[in-house]
Amino acid sequence: MTKIRIISKRDGPNLVEVDGKVKVALCRCGHSNKKPYCDGTHAKVGFRADEKIAFELEL
Ligand code: FES
Repeated sequence: MTKIRIISKRDGPNLVEVDGKVKVALCRCGHSNKKPYCDGTHAKVGFRADEKIAFELEL
């Protein structure tokens, strides 16, 4: 069984996890220079957001 989750990290990106391993970090602050990927700019611009599990699926 494969478990897929998208986790919105506190003050950071959306992480796509497959079986508990992070496969990609997607920008959600809108300031990355490597969109759609997070490049860490969220910390420099003071992005603030809650952490939550945005999506979860088991196949
Ligand atoms: S969330 Fe990391 S650069 Fe936007």
